[in-house]
This record gives sequence, C-alpha cells and structure tokens, in this order.
Amino acid sequence: MPARSIEQVRNLCKRRGFVFPGSAAYGGLGSFWDYGPLGVEMLNNVKKAWWRNVVYERDDVEGLDAAILMSRKVWQHSGHEATFSDPLVDCRACHARHRADHLTDDTCPKCGAPALTGPRSFNLMFKSHVGPVEAAAGSEEEMASRVYLRPETAQGIFMNFAHVQRSLARKVPFGIAQVGKAFRNEITPGNFIFRTREFEQMEIEFFIKPPQFVQPGEKTDEQWHAEWVEQRYNWWLSLGVEEGRLRRRAQEAAELAHYSKATTDLEYLFPDFGWGEVEGIANRTDYDLSAHSKDVPPEDLKRLKLETNADSVEKLDYFDPDAKARYVPWVIEPSAGATRAMLAFLCEAYHEELTKEPPAAEVDAIRAEIPAVVKNADKKAKEAEKARAKNEPAKHDPAAIATFCVALEEAAARLPQSLLEVAALLEDHPGAQNLEPVKKLAPKVVKLAEDCTRVVLKLHPTLAPVKLAVFPLKKNEAAIVDVAKRLKHQFQRFFRVAYDDSAGIGRLYRRQDEIGTPFCITVDFQTLEDNTVTVRERDTMKQERVKMEDLKHLLFTRLHMG
Ligand code: GAP
Repeated sequence: MPARSIEQVRNLCKRRGFVFPGSAAYGGLGSFWDYGPLGVEMLNNVKKAWWRNVVYERDDVEGLDAAILMSRKVWQHSGHEATFSDPLVDCRACHARHRADHLTDDTCPKCGAPALTGPRSFNLMFKSHVGPVEAAAGSEEEMASRVYLRPETAQGIFMNFAHVQRSLARKVPFGIAQVGKAFRNEITPGNFIFRTREFEQMEIEFFIKPPQFVQPGEKTDEQWHAEWVEQRYNWWLSLGVEEGRLRRRAQEAAELAHYSKATTDLEYLFPDFGWGEVEGIANRTDYDLSAHSKDVPPEDLKRLKLETNADSVEKLDYFDPDAKARYVPWVIEPSAGATRAMLAFLCEAYHEELTKEPPAAEVDAIRAEIPAVVKNADKKAKEAEKARAKNEPAKHDPAAIATFCVALEEAAARLPQSLLEVAALLEDHPGAQNLEPVKKLAPKVVKLAEDCTRVVLKLHPTLAPVKLAVFPLKKNEAAIVDVAKRLKHQFQRFFRVAYDDSAGIGRLYRRQDEIGTPFCITVDFQTLEDNTVTVRERDTMKQERVKMEDLKHLLFTRLHMG
C-alpha cells in the first residue's frame, strides 16, 4: 500500500531531512518549502532521470537553461499578462480568499457566513523591477521597468528556438528541453509540495511541421501529440508508479489554455485529494512562435486570434530545406512539475510493513484495550461539551476526540498490519492527548511497532537520495572501521553514500529503509578473514555475502547504472 495520507509523507520529509517549511524561524512563508540534504538529492535525481530520458536517450532534443527574468514584452505577447489569472473571491466576514472556481461546500468560508464578494481576476505572476525604481505602481516609469518571475519555463524556450536551431543546424522535427524554477502567486496553494508558489518544471517544446507541410508517411501534429503522451506516460511507469495510479485525461474544450488545440494531462492518484495533474502534454500549434514574431501574415493572426506584434524584431520561423519553404513550426509541449513529481514518487514509495509477526498475545492485549480507550474518550468529549456549553474552559476538543476514535477503531480492526498506524494515532493524534488510557497504552504499542514494523520508501533506485549505506559492525574495531571507510570512499565518487555507526545494525537498517536506501553493506569480522561483506537489499530485506571485488559490478547492475 502506498501512503494513506499526505501527512505521513510530510512528516517523514520533515523528520528525515527531505523538505522543511521555508523561513521557519519567522513562522514560515505561505507555501514555500526548502529542500534538505535528502530532498535535494531526490529532486536532482528526478530531474536527472527526466533529462537522461528526454535529452540523452533521444536523437532529436537539445537542452537549454534560459534566464528566469525576461522582457515584460514576452509575457505581454505570450498572453500571460492579460489572461494568466484566476477568479478570486473574498469572504466579507472573515476576509479569507478563495478561488471562485474551486469553491465547494467544504472550502466555503470557515466562518460560516458565506457573504462573498463578486469574482475578481487575479493575475498569478509575481512582479519585480529591473534597476532602481521607486515609482508608483502602474505609473509609466514603473511599467517600463517591470518584469515578472516566469510562471512557466516554456517562454524561455520559444525565445531561443531560432538560436538553437541555427547554432546546432537542427532540422524540424526537433525539441528543446529545459528544467528550472517557475513562480505563480497561487491563490490557494497547498497539499504540501503539490501546489506551491515557487516550484520547478521540466518542459520540452518539440517543434514539428505544420499540417500543410506534412508529407505522406510523416507524423501529423496529432500523431506526435499521441506519441509524446505515450512516451511520457511510460516514463512515469518506468520509475515505479503503478499503472492503476496513473491515468491519461484529455482536457475538455473549456479547460484548454488559450494557446492549446488539445491537452492530455497525466494524473496521479494522490492520497487525501485523489487524481491530480503531474504533467500536461499540449498541442500549442504555431501560437507561441507566431505570437513572438514580427511580420506574421494577417490570415495567421486571424486564425490564432493574435494582434500584430510591433515589438518583436525577429520572425521565429524556419527554412525547411526539403520543402524549400519557410514556415512557423508547430509545437507539442510535454510539461511536468519536478517538485510535484517528487511528491508523487514519495507517495507511491511510502510503505509501512511488518518485519516480523508480532506475538499474538500482545496484539490481542492491545485489541482488548481499544474499547476502554474509546469509552473514556467519549466520556471526556461529553464533559468537554458540557464545559463549553457553560462557557467554562474545556480540557479536550470534542471534534478532535471524535476523529481520533473513528480512526483508532478503524485501524485497530486491521491489526497487526496496522500496528504502526495505531502507534502513530496514540502518540500523535491531537484528540489523543491527555487521555489517561492512551498514555497507558501508547508505550506498549510503540515498543511493539518498533520491534516488528518498518517504514520503507520503495523508491526506484534511480530516485533514491542515498544509494548505499556502509556500516561497521563494531565501531571500536580499527580494522573493521578502516575497511568500511575505504568502501565508502570507493563508491562516493559515483553516488551518495552514507556511513553510520551510531546504533545497532537492526536500527541502522530501519533508518535507511525509511529514506529509501536500496543497499546496505555491513563490514564484520568475517570481512577481515575472507574479504566478503554482507549486502542487504531494502525491499526483500535479503542478505547475501559478497566478495568486495564483486561489489562494484553488483551495485552498478542493481542500481541500473550499468
Ligand atoms: N508550459 C505549460 C505549463 O506551464 P501547466 O499545466 O500550468 O502548464 C505544467 O504546468 C506542470 O507544472 C503541471 O503539470 C504541474 O506538474 C506543475 N505545476 C504547475 N503549477 C504548479 C504549482 N503551483 N506547484 C507545483 N507544480 C506546479
């Protein structure tokens, strides 16, 4: 079973150094996140896996890294300044802000007074200025120096279409790939790193012949679109996403962005909120290159609903040597979120497992105590309600107790598989705090969970932040430590290797399982005699004795590096 809730993943990410809230010493800043030592490794691995797949393993894609800040004219002519906005409504009573198109009964103002303002259009681009400007917002001087933090990396690619094509003498069809930061002043960011205001995208603009130039036997724009959807879908599966949790969904006409003829979203089945877009593959036609070009014929402007571009000094077209004609290429755009991909891969990889069958008597004893815990919780909830009715301070929160009781009974019915879940509920659920029977039961359950369960991230080895951990069986045995350190140094040239001697081997394994390390090596006394070490595999927990001289081959093969 993958993660049951985003909260499980968020907790793990904070506890083990993947993702921390940004600006934490000042109480955080709405939905900005910092990627810690393991998070930066994993995010880099996601981006590298994407780059390898779409640049190195193809013959028709080049890479690019364009500036984040571009001329404001780019965003005027791309259509973003006028249309990249969401409808915003405010609650007149509590001043909470909502996206009008996302309002449901659940998200209606919590104050319970649905007195909403009418929808206003709110542009999602962050503004800044180039040079020292102190002019009033909207003044001529302010507008002249205004820039936007890019809300998509795509426009940097369009700006460089002709440079890349000419400098590398590329023939259409070919693509340009870019990975980089994008910024959107989202009205309702949330769900951890799913929707944030600063994030990373992995985008390709793939330039193809316009329909009227396609020869028999060549792919049409619709065939290229369908092919990219399949290529990209298979990439997600190749990195461990289960087919049942990834789907292709063609956008309805009303959903399409202003530039799109057709878009297919790839959606992942997230815990808590269900299907969420992780990548969109759009047919952007010749909209963007035409939008940024001078001298576009009036019939094309009309077809694309564009105005004449009097600011552009270039025509972003292409001379096709086979057709002996110039044209503005069409574009297929696979656009994925790198940070959102990381969340999907983490949710997919998160597992809680029994490592051994807990003694039946101990499980039965826990089961037997649950009704008493629930009965006591109910009683405390009623007392709290009565206190509140009399405007007296209440020791408990009845609503939190109610959710705790439901979750506890549901999880207890699945014991022993749910041992870790029951332990987490008793230890951390807000409704459980200060309940005497919980205080009594929690230590027993936590201890049993520690002995018999593990959290394991079953990440594809390519994505795992740490590929290998090396443990000396005895940290005070100089000869063992020496071999273990030598092994670490041997492999850290190739990938991230951890060295840990701060606990017993069982606990060290559990720590590495929790961060998804595919292999652990233990150096022991036998190593000193026969040059073998124990290699332990994360998912199967199988251990084998391997000669040190064979380690490199074994690891490279199993880490998909050979
Ligand atoms: N150039 C096309 C484009 O930007 P998009 O569907 O708006 O299309 C592409 O974004 C991908 O970027 C999405 O599929 C998602 O993975 C990611 N993305 C978009 N907004 C995001 C946000 N606020 N936070 C995190 N990722 C986001």
